[in-house]
Amino acid sequence: MSAIHQQLSEAVGNAFAALSLSAEFGLVSRSSRDGAAPFQCNGCMAAAKSAKSNPRELAARIATELKEHPLIASLEVAGPGFLNITPAPGLMASQANALSADVRTGASRVGDPKKIIIDFGGPNVAKPMHVGHLRSSVIGDALQRLLRFVGHDVVSDIHLGDWGLQMGQLITELQIEQPDLVYFDADFDGPWPIGSPVDIDDLSRMYPAASLACKSDPDRMDIARKATAELQAGRAGYRALLDHFIAVSIAALKVDFGNLGVHFDLWKGEAAVDPLIKPMVEKFKADGVTEMSQGALIIRVAEEGDKKELPPLILISGAGAALYATTDLATILDRVENIDPDIILYVVDLGQASHFEQVFRAAGKTGLFAQDGLEHIKFGTVNGKDGKRFRTRSGGVMRLSDLLGQANEAAMSRLSEAGLAAGMEAEEKAEIARMIGLAAIKFADLRNVRTTNYVFDIERFTEFEGKTGPYLLYAAVRMKSMLRKAKATGIGAGKIIPKAEAEKTLVLMLDHFDHALKGAANKRHPHILCEHLYELAQTFSKFYASCPVLSAESNEIQASRFNLVQTSLRQLETGLELLGIETPERM
Ligand code: ARG
Repeated sequence: MSAIHQQLSEAVGNAFAALSLSAEFGLVSRSSRDGAAPFQCNGCMAAAKSAKSNPRELAARIATELKEHPLIASLEVAGPGFLNITPAPGLMASQANALSADVRTGASRVGDPKKIIIDFGGPNVAKPMHVGHLRSSVIGDALQRLLRFVGHDVVSDIHLGDWGLQMGQLITELQIEQPDLVYFDADFDGPWPIGSPVDIDDLSRMYPAASLACKSDPDRMDIARKATAELQAGRAGYRALLDHFIAVSIAALKVDFGNLGVHFDLWKGEAAVDPLIKPMVEKFKADGVTEMSQGALIIRVAEEGDKKELPPLILISGAGAALYATTDLATILDRVENIDPDIILYVVDLGQASHFEQVFRAAGKTGLFAQDGLEHIKFGTVNGKDGKRFRTRSGGVMRLSDLLGQANEAAMSRLSEAGLAAGMEAEEKAEIARMIGLAAIKFADLRNVRTTNYVFDIERFTEFEGKTGPYLLYAAVRMKSMLRKAKATGIGAGKIIPKAEAEKTLVLMLDHFDHALKGAANKRHPHILCEHLYELAQTFSKFYASCPVLSAESNEIQASRFNLVQTSLRQLETGLELLGIETPERM
């Protein structure tokens, strides 16, 4: 099915074509002005310019062309040549019923599906997750859901940070704590013990200790660097240890991400592509794209016209180590060989913009991957109320589990304040609070243009009023309870007859879903979908205030409104699901 604005575009386009002008001038869009006709076409200005005629006269001729058009109720010429268009009642009605009959409530699928890898989450093994990782997870998950829904073939990959200095730091810390482990015996060559010598609590304790020690003691840092280099050079005992660290971390991360409702198809990391690095570097060398500079092997990526100087990408450091960019290039190689994507999206904070620019240019220059298929999906920081980067109340790094706990608590008190979920069993109430807490955090993040920073304020995020996740959940729950009540009195869905102004506005809003989805998916901007869902909930609320279902004047109108509620609910729930937000049955 195509949306009303698309059907109108075709009609108006044909009118332009009938006057020997390009049909593209006929593009019709939603009108931005309140109280005006719901649609507008601004093509007369540009068309008149190209035909060297008068835009108002042209608009009048288009209006004459479309006088008796069955899809158009009225068409007015305004200002310098705007066309204000009101769709015919028949079009409104047929569209409403088509939307209600469609499980996807009007959401279309792309004509040219692409294979897209989304690299997001990106937590580091043993290091606690920070808010940047949370944002990446929430935005990345919304994008994977959205892009899949519109028809792309999506593979998500968590891309663990498991190959850097923190690994050497952990290894040396463990050696101090348990020097007798076989992993530290350079002569031992396996088989290695199957059980891990550490658990997740050990890792969470050891990493901060090691990191602190290395910061204050240059000798400790040296040992950690050496261990990192040995690990990367293939020392078997260290590699065996690393595999334990990774397995233990992944098990813990799966619990965290499970609680967040975020899924990854692949749990690969930087370490996984280590075997590809050497041959890849050799090939780059042979192809002549690398250079030696101050002892390091580099790829120059600066281009003429760069506004800011972009330093060369360091492939192999002076100390012989593969760096962050090296593993990112090798990961592209791995993805090409195993998945063969058309596009790779990297959902990573703005602060890494230069890194990705270097990697993308190097990938293009070496022929690894077409540069325009690599996209850095940037996002801003989360700040505390003091305007500085968000930390926990105690000032330390945020732990995902703490954050979710905090959201849960806030949701619980909001429920009590609002007198909701009052008579429910503790278990159900807790489950509702969990959904509200998650919805609060996710929606508060996704509703912003992702490149902007925002202030973390759990009190505001959990409010039931305003542009919040809980507001949308409440709207959905109200629809559900309304439908239950109507069903209990024997009302069911019937043909939609949009008559009242509020009904027509709701139909137009429902019809806008596809446009919002396309915008969100193509621009990789989930806030566009958030905006639509918020507008839908508000429009619905106005509809419901003036168009009651139970006390409607006839059976036909009851059935029509019931159907409108049902269709609105389906679209709202579909949209929320695409944002990674679950809806309770009641609250
Ligand atoms: N682990 C990295 C960090 O914590 C993020 C990884 C982003 N993805 C990538 N392919 N570089 O900063």
